[in-house]
Amino acid sequence: MAHIIAPSLLSADFARLAQAVELVDTSAAPWLHLDVMDGLFVPNISFGPAVIKAIRPLTRKVFDVHLMITGPDRYITAFRDAGADRLAVHYEACTHLHRTIQAIKAAGMKAGVAINPHTPVHLLTDVLADLDQVVLMSVNPGFGGQKFIPGTLRKLNALAEMRHIHETTFLIEVDGGVSMENAALLAESGADVLVAGNSVFGTPDPAAAIHMLSA
Ligand code: DX5
Ligand code: ZN
Repeated sequence: MAHIIAPSLLSADFARLAQAVELVDTSAAPWLHLDVMDGLFVPNISFGPAVIKAIRPLTRKVFDVHLMITGPDRYITAFRDAGADRLAVHYEACTHLHRTIQAIKAAGMKAGVAINPHTPVHLLTDVLADLDQVVLMSVNPGFGGQKFIPGTLRKLNALAEMRHIHETTFLIEVDGGVSMENAALLAESGADVLVAGNSVFGTPDPAAAIHMLSA
């Protein structure tokens, strides 16, 4: 399967969000990655359901929402109502992760779990069969434009192996520091989705960057 590029709106010009969404809409990227930060789980604050709802009419691309918030259960229906197609919560933010995953699916969305760089992939073993997506953080979450943490490659290989052994079908998404230099290797190593913020919106020609990252 060819990999999916999910441009992250976090690196777009927030004064021109509509243009950024329209650019993704006409690009080769099938997904739009939306980073929600609460200033508590991560040091930064980004945007919430109101902004997602406002941009929802601008495109039919898949809204891939990444919640970097504490107590995400409180907001599952809010993000569904705002137009999220896929919702990922952090392993480190969920006391009852299995329940949270079921609640996301019951709300009609695809369920994902994101893990921080320090969290071993094997901690997901007992929920793998319930998941639509695992988000491997390849930077410490909170900011765009950070450097890819090389140890992520080992975790990616291990997770791809687990997927095979357990005969599960979840998508593997790599998030953080994805660039022209590492995209091909990540895809070859089992990543289905590559989030790209700075390597898309930080370039003079974001549409061309999406095209090159997709190859
Ligand atoms: C980081 C976010 C990422 C971020 C990626 O906390 O989860 O999605 O936007 O940005 P880049 O691609 O610039 O590392
Ligand atoms: Zn993200």
